[in-house]
Amino acid sequence: MLAIELCGIKLKNPLILASGVLGLNKNNLLRAQKGGAGALTIKSISLEERFGHETPNVAFFEAGMLNAFGYCNPGLEEALREFADLSCFSVPVIASCTASNASDFVKLVSALDKLDFAAIELPLSCPHTPGHGLLAGQGTVEATKEIVKACRKKTKKPLWVKINASLPNAVDIALAAEQAGADAITCSNTLGPGMVINIASAKPVLAFKVGGVSGPAIRPIIVRTIYDLYKRLKIPIIALGGVLRGEHAIEMLMAGASAVGIATGIAIRGPDIFKKCCDEMSEWLKKHDYKSVTELIGVAHE
Ligand SMILES: Cc1cc2nc3c(=O)[nH]c(=O)nc-3n(C[C@H](O)[C@H](O)[C@H](O)COP(=O)(O)O)c2cc1C
Repeated sequence: MLAIELCGIKLKNPLILASGVLGLNKNNLLRAQKGGAGALTIKSISLEERFGHETPNVAFFEAGMLNAFGYCNPGLEEALREFADLSCFSVPVIASCTASNASDFVKLVSALDKLDFAAIELPLSCPHTPGHGLLAGQGTVEATKEIVKACRKKTKKPLWVKINASLPNAVDIALAAEQAGADAITCSNTLGPGMVINIASAKPVLAFKVGGVSGPAIRPIIVRTIYDLYKRLKIPIIALGGVLRGEHAIEMLMAGASAVGIATGIAIRGPDIFKKCCDEMSEWLKKHDYKSVTELIGVAHE
């Protein structure tokens, strides 16, 4: 009932651990696998080790959170060691990498291609890390084309391009990625950036002052963007943004997503959020006489 096939990859359910949470090492990924995720995305890896922004780098508010992790990660060499053997996983593992320019992306993709990852995700959309994503000018049609074209030559694995729904031309950027050879679009990275001020100290809570906004606050924007993307794209869409319950995932599928990622929801409902959402989805499907979750994709357009 929940099984899907995405870019030729078989998933027991459409819920994917999003990049950035529980993805730095295999032990953490195993927690999300145990929690019922249909696939697991590693934390985005850069060529060199990065320490990221100073703490506090996370701020919660009523409708979600802000983060300014700044792509802290141990770098490619350590990632190649950590993920050299993926045989402990019973679900597909997706690589993710970040760079400041096309030639560094090419180096990362060429190296990650040699491991047993099921797909490689290129986030071109982080809103809070100087030299990366939107702050490296990657949120344009031209940069997207250049990076995706160059990486496409280096791997036969499915290439997923992660865009940002806060850009007014998000659909054009996704179309550029599709034309350059992307196999799926992941939408969205965190929005903004936003800011939370501690009124007692009269200072921004985050050391970096601003951070990417995630969680329930952004969900309606993501649903609308997925709806717009579905009308124009031929390749599948993976929706991310504020999914906390099975019903939210169903909403994303109805808008046109083929699968759904979860990041912030893990901090709110725990690593077994995937199991909880799967139970909620199955119950809803049975109650409404659907045989398979795939029947929901894009029904809001009919
Ligand atoms: C703490 C944190 C770290 C993140 N790190 C990454 C990352 O390394 N790479 C990436 O592509 N997205 C990263 N993201 C973005 C998420 O993968 C996701 O796109 C976004 O948070 C929206 O989904 P959500 O509302 O379920 O959190 C991060 C998000 C959070 C909250």
